[in-house]
Formats: sequence, C-alpha cells, structure tokens
Amino acid sequence: MGMKTMEKLAVIPGEHNLKNYEETAANHDWQHSEQAFSWFETGKVNIAYEAIDRHATTHRKNKVALYYNDGNRKETYSFYDMKRHSNKAANVLKEKAELNKGDRVFIFMPRTPELYFSLIGALKIGAIVGPLFEAFMEGAVYDRLMDSEAKVIITTPALLSRVPLEKLPHLKTVFVVGENIEETDKILDFNKYFAEASQDFDIEWVDKEDGSILHYTSGSTGAPKGVLQVHYAMVQQYQTAQWVLDLKEDDIYWCTADPGWVTGTAYGIFGPWLNGVTNVVVGGRFSPQAWYGAIEEYGVTVWYSAPTAFRMLMGAGPNIIGKYNLSTLRHVLSVGEPLNPEVVKWGLEILNHRIHDTWWMTETGGHMICNYPSMEIKPGSMGKPVPGIYATIVDDQGNEVPPYTMGNLAIKKGWPAMMRQIWGNPDRYESYFLKGEWYVSGDSAFMDEEGYFWFQGRVDDVIMTAGERVGPFEVESKLLEHPDVVEAGVIGKPDPVRGEIIKAFISLREGVEPSEVLEANIRDFVKTGLSAHSAPREIEFRDKLPKTRSGKIMRRVLKAWELDLPAGDLSTMEE
Ligand code: WT7
Repeated sequence: MGMKTMEKLAVIPGEHNLKNYEETAANHDWQHSEQAFSWFETGKVNIAYEAIDRHATTHRKNKVALYYNDGNRKETYSFYDMKRHSNKAANVLKEKAELNKGDRVFIFMPRTPELYFSLIGALKIGAIVGPLFEAFMEGAVYDRLMDSEAKVIITTPALLSRVPLEKLPHLKTVFVVGENIEETDKILDFNKYFAEASQDFDIEWVDKEDGSILHYTSGSTGAPKGVLQVHYAMVQQYQTAQWVLDLKEDDIYWCTADPGWVTGTAYGIFGPWLNGVTNVVVGGRFSPQAWYGAIEEYGVTVWYSAPTAFRMLMGAGPNIIGKYNLSTLRHVLSVGEPLNPEVVKWGLEILNHRIHDTWWMTETGGHMICNYPSMEIKPGSMGKPVPGIYATIVDDQGNEVPPYTMGNLAIKKGWPAMMRQIWGNPDRYESYFLKGEWYVSGDSAFMDEEGYFWFQGRVDDVIMTAGERVGPFEVESKLLEHPDVVEAGVIGKPDPVRGEIIKAFISLREGVEPSEVLEANIRDFVKTGLSAHSAPREIEFRDKLPKTRSGKIMRRVLKAWELDLPAGDLSTMEE
C-alpha cells in the first residue's frame, strides 16, 4: 500500500491559487466559478469565445497564446492572432463544407498550429469536435467517424489514405492541410481557402449544455465509445487550471499530451486559455533533448506530463538533464497512470520538484482527485478530491465503505465537466451510474483516515499502456480478423517503463505452426489495422485458451498464468 517508507512531502512555500484546501473544499460552489464568464450575465455561451476571443479585447490582446515548436516550424501566436486564425478556420468550415451547429467534425492530424485554429474555429460554429490521435489507422478512423456520422474531417496528406471516404456515407468533406493538394468534389485544400477566408466571424452562441468535444475511449467490452463533453465543462476546466495547475498570469505552461486524448483538450487547450495563460505546444517525436530543450527555451514554469514520459526521461540519465537550465520550473504534474515511487524519487532528487499526481478520466472531463501545491503529499496517493467534487469508495451495491476498505472509486453525479452522453448509446451511459447517484469509475481504490485516495488498479480489463487506454476487446476483435487466428485473449502485463504492455494469447488455425515470422505478421496486422499503440508487444501461442461455458475468453485466468498467481474461481470455465 503506497510508499510507507517515504515521508510526507511538505507544502511548497509561496503563494498558491488554492490557499487553504480544507476551507475551500468545505465552501466551494460551482456557481461561484461561473461568475468568471460573461455568459453568467449575457447568456451567450461558447467555450471558444471564453478561451480566445475575450482575451483579444483586453490587455492580453498581444500576449502570447501559443508557442509552437516541432523542430521545423517554430511559431508564436498572440490571443489576437488566435482569434483571427480561428475565425478564418470557422469561415472555411462553414462556407466550404457547410459545417453547422451540432455537426460532427474530426481533426486527424499531428499537433500543428492548424489543429488549434480549426479546433477553436469549429467550436465557434457550435460544431462538435472529435480530435483523433495521428497514430490511428483506417479501421480506427472508420469506427469513430461512422459511429458519430461525421460530416467533415480535417487531415494531412500523410494521413489521408487512412480516411475511407467512400465507406462513410455521412462524410461530405475532407480538408487536407498541406501543399499542392489535388482537389476533388469532396477533398479540399484547407490552406488555399484559409488564405482567402475572412478574419471576421460571428460566433454561434450555444446552450451551455450543448456538445463541444467528442473523445472516443475504450472500455473492456465493445467498440470504443464516444464520450461527449459540453461547453459548460469550461467552468471546471477554468477553475481547476487555477487550483490544480496553479496557473497565474505570467506562467508559461506546457502540457505534453496530444489533443487526441482528453488531457490534451481539457488541459492542453481549455484550462490554460480560459485563464489567458501562455501555452507551449511541442510537436514532433519525443526526445529528452527536445523536451528539456523546450523547458529551457520557453522558460516553462508549469509542466503537466505523464509517468511514462517521466520514466523515459529518467531512463535517459542524469547527464542529459544537467545540460539544460530548468530553473524556471515551479510546478510539475502527472496524470494517466500510477505515479510510481521511482518517479517521485527522481522528481525530488534529479528534477528537484515534487511531482503532483492528478487522477481523472475521459468521462470526468476534468480533474477529480489531485495533489495541490498548498497540500502535503503522501507519495503513492492520488491526493484529495477537487473542491466541489465529492469522491468516495463504494461497494458493488453503491454503499459507501469505511476508510482502508478497497472498493469502487466513485464520484457523486453532476459536476460541470461530466460527460453528458455516450454517443448514440443511452444505455451504455446509464450503466456508468449506480443507484442513479454515483458515477463508477472502473478503478479500485481506498481512502485513508485523512481523506487521501490510493489507487489500486482497474476493476475491469482496460489496459493503460504508456498512458494510453486500450480496450482488450478492440484488440481481440482485430486479431480475430487475421486469417490464421482462431481465438485471442488480450491482457495488460506490468512493464517498468510503459506501466503495462499489451500481451496477446492466441490459438492458431489447424495446421498453422507458430513462428517468429507469423508473430511479427500478426503484430503488424494490428498495427496497420488499428494503431501502433494497440499492437501486442508480446504474443504467446497456446493450443487452447481458457473460456467460460458461454465462450467468453477469461482474461482473468490469462493474467493469472502470466503473473503466476492463483486463477481464482474456475467454476464457470469450460472443461
Ligand atoms: C484511466 C482513465 C485523464 C487523463 C488520462 C487518462 C488511469 C488516470 C491516474 C492516476 C492512476 C490513473 C485510471 C483511469 N489513471 N490517472 N493519477 N493514477 N491511474 O484518461 O484514457 O480516460 O483513462 O487512467 O485507470 O480510470 P483515460
């Protein structure tokens, strides 16, 4: 249970936005946070307006909103620039693709300034934006666009071949961001129209409960599901960017997550910009040089990343870090997987910072349980609930349990950034809630007597690999499409760098012999059909897989085999 050997980490001296956790937690009401927004009085709501346009008419007009650097392109945009460029993008989407309020538009490209212009631009129209991670292959792109009946996608020449335009009846327009784009009636050259577009745009005012961002995420069963967030999420993203990220006017903030994942939208776009804070975006591939270099070059003060990334930096050794001046850093945070003791130690000894763990998920849309600069940290604990959030541990019937009892980590329904729909699947949405009152996270945890929460694991079979959530069912389904595979069971196997890796147990068609070539071929099949991060790093061939009498592969038993643990109750297993 956690790190008994490590002392509590003391409060960081200095002024923090959240001065007194206990007092704020006892008194906070989200209506108070709403007053930061003009719609509190005018009723005119749009998260894009609050994140960008309103700053463009204040002292922040020429303040840097975005520092972008991918090694090739190095660009800087003020809030006024972001306003004009997102207006242009909005005009392109509206005029050339007839994108309207409520329509779904996907953005499928690596992090470039155009991703941010078009995401904000689409929101200004009132459209619902689905950001897609660039590693997705055709099958994954198809599933998401089909499920949400998307009308428009914005992509790049390199990714265009993964957009199965002819198989998607609702998809009317594909914008390609690049040079010398060959246009057809459905494929349009984004930059050409962007250059011509007006920089004025009348924002579409929406209801605060209207949809804004649609993130697809994986569960343990079924296809990935579309988690819909609404404009009102801004209230929580704005407030937690202050309390948790501790953002202040002069901060230079860097969130390392891609907007294809919720961290990259909620806290890579909205959290900082709703507060008018300068945001750093580093494109391109990870390298310790590029990452430490970005902190030095931009003078990053607040840095939000993930345990996997910290472990990779750790692995690069202390000599590299010593070559960079990281003295501007004042606040470092982590999300996505358990923050392990080695990383905490590395933070304290090499980086010279407490790393603040934060717990939340796609479905929560914003921070839930966190460590705050003004609070003592118990290494190994995720911290305490954000003021205004009621978190607890419940048993499977939805009854709260006493401290130190392991159970389901649950949140009382109704916080601002909570998902409002699973796209097209109301039953699935309802299934998240117990007794109509508790949102049940799928994580198991316990609370200690001081109210700190301790993560214990997933209740379901969802795999967290390198901070990314992978549903075993999706990988198994893809494996079964391979001509030589008869049965497949997929589990997460603990890994020192990635948290977990994906391991597949496979039984082969009669007459097919296991081989390394076949293994590589199967791995590639998932890589090209789904995405690189869903491909099993390990494959083990077995004659038979453990199944229930009803034919369901028992991942629990596979996991027990793998970890040499007792397999538990086998009464439902077939002979
Ligand atoms: C799952 C949600 C929200 C951003 C990233 C992931 C795991 C998240 C922590 C943490 C231990 C964590 C949980 C959760 N997780 N943060 N601080 N400690 N586990 O979002 O893809 O929706 O995944 O990530 O298992 O349920 P996501």
